[in-house]
Amino acid sequence: MMQTNRRTWLQQIGIVTAGFSVAPFKALALPSVKHPTVTTTADQAIRLSSNENPYGPSPLAREAMARSIGSSNRYNWNTAEQLMAALAQKNQVTEDNILIAAGSTVILDLVVQSFAAQGGNFIVPHPSYTNWTKRAEQLGLEKRSIPLTPAKQLPLDAMLAAMNSATRMIYVCNPNNPTGTLCEHNALLSFIKTAAKKATVIVDEAYIDFTDQPSVSHLVAENKNLIVVRTFSKIYGLAGARTGYAIAHKDTISRISALQTWANGDVSVVSRAAALASLSDTGFVKQCYAQNIAVRKYTIEQLTRLGITCIPSHTNFIYFSLAGYKKDFFGVLKNNNIQGTFIYEADGQWTRITVGTLDEMQRFISVIQ
Ligand SMILES: Cc1ncc(COP(=O)(O)O)c(C=O)c1O
Repeated sequence: MMQTNRRTWLQQIGIVTAGFSVAPFKALALPSVKHPTVTTTADQAIRLSSNENPYGPSPLAREAMARSIGSSNRYNWNTAEQLMAALAQKNQVTEDNILIAAGSTVILDLVVQSFAAQGGNFIVPHPSYTNWTKRAEQLGLEKRSIPLTPAKQLPLDAMLAAMNSATRMIYVCNPNNPTGTLCEHNALLSFIKTAAKKATVIVDEAYIDFTDQPSVSHLVAENKNLIVVRTFSKIYGLAGARTGYAIAHKDTISRISALQTWANGDVSVVSRAAALASLSDTGFVKQCYAQNIAVRKYTIEQLTRLGITCIPSHTNFIYFSLAGYKKDFFGVLKNNNIQGTFIYEADGQWTRITVGTLDEMQRFISVIQ
C-alpha cells in the first residue's frame, strides 16, 4: 500500500517519467519539479523568504501524521523515545546524547538560558542566523559580532581571537545562513577543539543535509562543550511541524534538558510521527537534495546572466549582491507577490533568496529581469 502510494506520488510529480522542460536542465536529466503539494500561503504568495522545503512534508510523513491524529488524545511518550532512538542511530550516538524540542530555535533558547545566570559574552559571526540572540541579550549576555571574511566565509580565526575569559558560547552556523557558505571540515574540527577548551561551541547544522559534508556530532561523546543543533524544518520539509534536536554529551544534555519541565515533551504526537517517518523516507530526501542542486544552479546562472554577483551556495538559498541592480528589487517582489528577505549587509547590498521549485524560480527571474 505504502509503495503504491509512493509510486503514485512520484508519478504525479513527474519523477518517474519526466525531464525538465527548460534547456539548462535537459542535460542534467533530472526530474521535473512540478509538484501537487507546493506550499503557498493563502494569498498564493511565492515564499522565497524562510528557506522552507517547497516539496515537503514527505509522503511517508504525511501518512504517519494522518495515522497519528487519532492518538493525539494520549501523551504517548513512547513516540518520543522512538524518535530519540532513531535520531541516536542516525547520528551514531546514544539516546542520552539527544534532546528533542519544538524546533531548533527552542534548543538555542535553552542553551542561552543555561548561561544567563553567569553573565558574560557570546560570539556570533555576522551576518548569520541570529534570531535567537535577542533573547540572550535580554538575559544580560553581551553579543560580540565578528564580520565574515570578504568571501563571506565564517571568520573562524577572528572568532577564536575574540574569545576571552567571559565568553560563554561561540556560535557556528555551518553552512551559514544567509550566505550559504560551508566551513572547510578540518578547519572546523580544529576550531571546535580550540574553542571548546574555553566555552560552549554551538554548531548549527540546520542545512548540513544539503551538503556532502559530515556532521561534527561524532565529537560530542568526548567533548562536553560542544552542542550540535539540527532541525526537521529544512530538507525534511517540516518547518510548520516544529521539530528540532540537540546532539551533545550526556551531561550537557542533562544540564540543558533540566530547564524544560517535560524534557522531550513539547513536540506533538503528530509532529513526532512526521519526524520519525521522514527519517525513513530517504528517497524523498535524495530527491529534495537533487532538486535543490538543479534549481539552485539554474537560479545562480540566471542571476549571473543578469550581472548579479552570487556567493556559491551549499544550501537551499542564495546570497547575492544588489549593488549593480538598477530596479527596485524589493518593490518588484512585492508587486509580484513574491516574498524575499531584506538587505543583510548595506556594503554591497547583499540579500538572500530561498531556492523554491523551478516554476517559482523561473517566475522570480522573469519578474526581476
Ligand atoms: C541556521 C538556522 N538554525 C535554526 C533555524 C530554526 O529552525 P527551527 O525551525 O528548527 O526552529 C533556522 C531557520 O531558518 C536556521 O536558518
